Amino acid sequence: MSSTAATLLPLTARGARPLAGRVRVPGDKSISHRALILGALAVGRTTVTGLLEGEDVLATGEAMRRLGASVARTGPGAWVIDGVGVGGFKAPDQTLDFGNSGTGCRLVMGAVAGCPVTATFDGDASLRRRPMRRILEPLVRMGATVVQAAEGDRLPVWLAGARDPIPIEYATPVPSAQVKSAVLLAGLAAPGHTVVIESEATRDHTETMLTHFGADVRVEPQGPHGRRITLVGQPELTAAPVTVPADPSSAAFPLVAALLVPGSDVVLADVMTNPLRTGLFTTLREMGAAIEEVAVRRDGGEAMADLRVRASDLVGVEVPAERAPAMIDEYPVLAVAAAFARGTTVMRGLKELRVKESDRLAATADLLRVNGVSVTIEGDDMIIEGRGRAPGGGLVATHMDHRIAMSALVMGLASEASVAVDDAAFIATSFPGFVDTMRGLGGDIG
Ligand code: S3P
Repeated sequence: MSSTAATLLPLTARGARPLAGRVRVPGDKSISHRALILGALAVGRTTVTGLLEGEDVLATGEAMRRLGASVARTGPGAWVIDGVGVGGFKAPDQTLDFGNSGTGCRLVMGAVAGCPVTATFDGDASLRRRPMRRILEPLVRMGATVVQAAEGDRLPVWLAGARDPIPIEYATPVPSAQVKSAVLLAGLAAPGHTVVIESEATRDHTETMLTHFGADVRVEPQGPHGRRITLVGQPELTAAPVTVPADPSSAAFPLVAALLVPGSDVVLADVMTNPLRTGLFTTLREMGAAIEEVAVRRDGGEAMADLRVRASDLVGVEVPAERAPAMIDEYPVLAVAAAFARGTTVMRGLKELRVKESDRLAATADLLRVNGVSVTIEGDDMIIEGRGRAPGGGLVATHMDHRIAMSALVMGLASEASVAVDDAAFIATSFPGFVDTMRGLGGDIG
């Protein structure tokens, strides 16, 4: 599943004529992972439409199969899952390989921690570098055992789930929906109340989908930006249909390209507009972006809309640290937009970017620098000097990171000289069809 030297996929993007058309980017990655996991833990048959069929999500589907659920594709984006019920996973006969996916790995660790089975978790070189202690620490408190792990509690990890999981009250030390979700998923099999307290609210798809599957979840405000989430343990999760909206984190790439390429006018269909995911749209509007929401609606507890985006002259802004959880995956492409804005953009509180698929803070700064843009990192802040245009001409190192690759290619569509990436293979983890989608809008990528 992982890219190897033999399958490196270099690509180049060149200055484009105006982008035009209507596209639906693939299904939301966060919701797709959760639909497979909750479908596997529910009693009955869950049907999913619009599932993201990217490598990350397919790895989670394979893990659910190995843990005893039946997972089958019935058509494009259409899947059915026959679940085993809360606590019903069987011990997998092979290592669970999550490829490049932190979300899949960490959420499934939570789900396994509440079952009396042992499983080995592994992934590619990027995932093996990422921190797992943030997940394992609360799961051990809930009764799971880390039988073995690589140095620094990294993958591969051999985890033994708890026979009698203990409900805990847990204040997450970092704003992370993955940590919150892992604790809640482990708490499903625990008696009593499992409580997660977060000082900054993070994406709430786990809470919303648990409710959709019949669990009793209470969400209360906590301090100025936080939440307190209480799950009543040992629910009967009942299969429920899931419609996956288009992923705002994938829509971000054609959206920013349309803003930057003069004369563009693009519609992005069915994009999820959950406010805990739309920090990028808020920020771009503050920068002067013409993004209009039409056909606003709700489905399965999630808000969505079609977004009409027109090329816009942008200005630099200051992005507050407390907005980071609502746009944590969007900083690389926002940095590209900031390079084409007039004036300075300051993005504050980017610490978590250092532990994504790559060190995204460093990789984003390098992406801009090799293309002639002035950028500095001060502590956890990134400062970009926008000049209304960017030279381009660089070769960007993508470090096994899909979002760095897509951001660099978006930059190439709008810069004076072309922009190349060393390896676009990892785009398939989250946005299969990215290149065809951009070409369909008129982008020159090849
Ligand atoms: C995700 C949470 C975020 C995000 C990731 C998806 C999720 O990670 O970066 O792409 O689906 O829960 P953290 O929770 O580690 O910030």
